[in-house]
Amino acid sequence: MTGARLLGLGTYRPGRLVTNDEITRQVDTSDLWIRTRTGISTRRIADDDETTVAMGVSAADKALAAAGLAARDVDAVIGATCTAPSQIPGTAPQVAARLGASAAGTFDINGGCAGFCYAVSTAADMVRAGSARHVLVVATERLSDYTDWSDRSTCILLADGAGAVVIGAAETDHIGPAVWGHDGSRPEAIQVPGRGDNSFRMEGPAVFRWAISLVPTLRTVCDRAGVAPEELAAIVPHQANLRIVEALAGGLGVPDVPIARDVVDSGNTSAASIPLALDRMMEAGEVVSGDPVLLFGFGAGLTYCGQVVRC
Ligand code: ACO
Repeated sequence: MTGARLLGLGTYRPGRLVTNDEITRQVDTSDLWIRTRTGISTRRIADDDETTVAMGVSAADKALAAAGLAARDVDAVIGATCTAPSQIPGTAPQVAARLGASAAGTFDINGGCAGFCYAVSTAADMVRAGSARHVLVVATERLSDYTDWSDRSTCILLADGAGAVVIGAAETDHIGPAVWGHDGSRPEAIQVPGRGDNSFRMEGPAVFRWAISLVPTLRTVCDRAGVAPEELAAIVPHQANLRIVEALAGGLGVPDVPIARDVVDSGNTSAASIPLALDRMMEAGEVVSGDPVLLFGFGAGLTYCGQVVRC
């Protein structure tokens, strides 16, 4: 075995659906403004019992079932989250304990909205290096815990949910090289400042311009994987908002390749958005086993990471 591949995918979407009309009762905005500027119609917001850990466990259970594996088969659990329920301890050990993954090593990655792609790359490298046979990546976010419901420029975007994948060994590599980078000189662009201010703050227009500037990087991700953009079965960028998703994917110039649009009714779920969007496309039959799919995460830290994965 010289490669790594996705063996199973699972997701969790909170039960509570919040419409744009509901948001108009809290801040001065409108359904039309939100849909026009962000593409979002509804989002999922977690109830009290739908904690970051509980949502992650639910998604992970489904991913393990899809992979045909038991929790005891997992050698490592990587949590991908920027909304851990506490600073210490991390999310991954709590998820692993609830699953019964008693033999697993555990740690979290905080790569903001790019966290899932960083975790997939790390997991694949662990499998290729022989450090682990099966790695569970659990991207789980409760952005609603950090949402300022009086800030109309951010509360319209943020949402909750979880997605998990199991990565294991394969004869040939199904997970392409990661392409990553950052602009850490601009922490204020997207932040939860801390020290008494636990609200999500964002310089929306600046983030928008930065995200769009990443179009050439998507081409680099394809080049590094040896896949031409027109050979892709789907493009799954982080579901920040629909305008960014369409501008990024559109920049590749392959109009016939389907683009993930899960943000429309799931909102922006940070690290969880890519597995949630991928799951929806697989359920719809838009992506089938073995298809090359471009994953591309970007967000806080101004950090980004992408890879082509044969699902
Ligand atoms: N309803 C009505 N008006 C609004 C709203 C709202 N919800 N939000 C802002 N406005 C107003 C502003 O107050 C401003 O009014 P003014 O001109 O009188 O000052 C006007 O709309 C324009 O404000 P902008 O911030 O320039 O609006 P913009 O068109 O840029 O849209 C938005 C704001 C949607 C946040 C946009 O900047 C954006 O999408 N940015 C990218 C953010 C993003 O997707 N981040 C995700 C990455 S981070 C992560 O994923 C966790």
